[in-house]
Amino acid sequence: MGNRYTFIMASFLVISSMLSAQDKNKDVFIEGLMEQMTLEEKIGQVSLFTTDWESTGPTIRDTYKKDIASGQCGALFNAHTVPFTRELQKIAVEETRLKIPLLFGYDVIHGYRTIFPIPLAESCSWDLDLIEETARIAAKEASSAGLHWTFAPMVDISRDPRWGRVMEGAGEDTWLGSRIAEARVKGFQGPDRIGQTDAVVSCLKHFVGYGASTAGRDYHYTEISALTMHELYLPPFKAGLDAGALTVMTAFNDINGMPATAHKPLLNDLLKQTWGFKGFVVTDYTSINELVEHGIAADERDAARMSLNAGVDMDMQGGLFQAHLANLIESKENTLDQLDDAVKRILSIKYDLGLFEDPYKFSDQTRYDSIILHTAHRKVAREMAQKSFVLLKNEHQLLPLSKENDQVILLGPLLDTQVDLMGAWSAAGEGEDCISIQKGIDDYLGGNKSLKVKKIGAFDNSMLSEDQINQALELASDTDIVILTMGENRDMSGEAASRANPVIPPSQTQLLSALKSKDKKVVVLLMNGRPLIMTEVDSLADAIIEMWWPGVEAGPAIAEVLYGDVNPSGKLTMTFPRSVGQIPIYYNERNTGRPHIPGIKWNTQFIDESNDPLYPFGYGLSYTSFDYDNLNVSCNPCLLEEPITVSVNLSNTGLYKGREVVQLYIRDKHGKTTRPAKELRGFETVELNPDETVMVKFELNKSDFLHLDMELREVFQAGDFEIMVGGHSQDVLSVNIVIEN
Ligand code: BGC
Repeated sequence: MGNRYTFIMASFLVISSMLSAQDKNKDVFIEGLMEQMTLEEKIGQVSLFTTDWESTGPTIRDTYKKDIASGQCGALFNAHTVPFTRELQKIAVEETRLKIPLLFGYDVIHGYRTIFPIPLAESCSWDLDLIEETARIAAKEASSAGLHWTFAPMVDISRDPRWGRVMEGAGEDTWLGSRIAEARVKGFQGPDRIGQTDAVVSCLKHFVGYGASTAGRDYHYTEISALTMHELYLPPFKAGLDAGALTVMTAFNDINGMPATAHKPLLNDLLKQTWGFKGFVVTDYTSINELVEHGIAADERDAARMSLNAGVDMDMQGGLFQAHLANLIESKENTLDQLDDAVKRILSIKYDLGLFEDPYKFSDQTRYDSIILHTAHRKVAREMAQKSFVLLKNEHQLLPLSKENDQVILLGPLLDTQVDLMGAWSAAGEGEDCISIQKGIDDYLGGNKSLKVKKIGAFDNSMLSEDQINQALELASDTDIVILTMGENRDMSGEAASRANPVIPPSQTQLLSALKSKDKKVVVLLMNGRPLIMTEVDSLADAIIEMWWPGVEAGPAIAEVLYGDVNPSGKLTMTFPRSVGQIPIYYNERNTGRPHIPGIKWNTQFIDESNDPLYPFGYGLSYTSFDYDNLNVSCNPCLLEEPITVSVNLSNTGLYKGREVVQLYIRDKHGKTTRPAKELRGFETVELNPDETVMVKFELNKSDFLHLDMELREVFQAGDFEIMVGGHSQDVLSVNIVIEN
């Protein structure tokens, strides 16, 4: 401690004099510091650059060390580990005039070194406490490696599985997405934990509407009506801010003719003025530069001008604030006040983190060594993987398997992969930390050497040769049950991984089909980052477990589920389409003036495909069965200002203990704007033993029944409402009530 104090005193002559009275308030400190800053030093604070450690975008500058030393860079990303962050921080605090510490950011999306299931998977657990816990562990690990700031959570709602980034989000529902945004922000940073060495600043991204890219093609144009923007895309950001998120990242997309990074009405007027956001806005990777390609800025200088004007505070990797702000301010095209406001917001977060007191406080090798990939973290990773698995099919109760009686063989392309299990955005995760499916099952069966295994099937559009199929069939000839891994490798979902045809690769389906032609019972273990189109697989397989990309504990997690130690309970948070033509597809659609009635021509339908998804939102089976009964609402008519209690009896009618996610939907039958035919407004998770029955209760309040009118005001329309409770969005009990003002 003594040494550290001496060191800090030596390194921070300017700052430490201002800090001498420890309790001087932040504003005084920051103002004092800003008075000493030159224009160039201020511009340095609003410039964020990547190191050459990792490539998360198209351009890599190799000047970052020089930029730090010359005070032209206030924050870095893609820099982590204790030695590296210390090395870079040392340049900032020893070689620059004002010794302002750097802020280190990184994409810690689903774990730092202990990689948890991808965020879409985690959302299928519907376990907000556990989601908060995985974010908390990610924050602990990341902060020990010197990181202060994570570029997460991604709170983009998306209804399009062609978009590869759905894997980073919480699915298609705004209400659930908002609850998950809150949980993740709490896990990363709060409430009130900023400044502690085990919390990191979170960043809500991508503001806003990125999930609406036309045809799911990444970075593509978005056409979003004002109503949809406010109803569907904005609320998870508001929820995350209310939970304390301190930064927001702009999106790449163009919204109705104005790219998000230059969108003054959304950034400055809504986010900063109306919502009162006090943190800072960072762009996405070179998205200021991209304003030129978008055709909205005349040149790069103009792009810098537009984005500062719009409310951007920090330029990620573009170098355009660095190159042009001085000149823009001199020529009065931007104001010094705008820059000062941005700098203050950034310094304020550095101050809250405690970096002016000790710029190295997060880079702590002892803490790093004691927690990284800790057994307790792996345990949470396993639990989260198991809760996020969704049992999509289980014909004749094939699952769970019996360890004693069932002979199995393992086939498929993802059997022994380790790296793919992490999915995209795996931060400091290492493939070697991940336990493969093969190893997990093998270990579970006690290192059963007779387990037959063959890696077969591809991720492209190829088909299997006759030889490969024969080999697989030969191997399976004296075994009844095949466990078949299928799906995507980790490059097939994520950023810049849109798929026009998000199907299961043909060779994999071909293998399944060949096995079924020999009457094998096939359990499909699906690994992927998005809903896939898999109608044929659904019709062929006997059982299907959607595992998503489950993270480090994939193997043991699935073994325990396959053999019944753990009963799956995940429920889908994104609809699975039957065919590409149904996309965008989502449960909370509006009714249309001609709702679908089978067999009648003049209504809303396809002539070549059903309207129904393959698996609806909220869907997921269990080894046991649940029965819903006796749905009751505490009043009718009800009064808006008084809480409404909804209850339902839930019984476990099967043979296994199980966890059920009980979902509550409402329908507002008559609004100031048209309302979706179903909107999620609550859920409860309940664990029940066989033959056990419980009454599950929900309380609904005024806010659950408000909606937006054409002027985007929150309004209530008295009248008829439908209250629905059930096990998924297409399987509900329902009661009609009247709510009066
Ligand atoms: C992504 C962001 C990410 C950033 C930094 C961009 O390409 O869109 O989500 O945070 O890179 O890695």
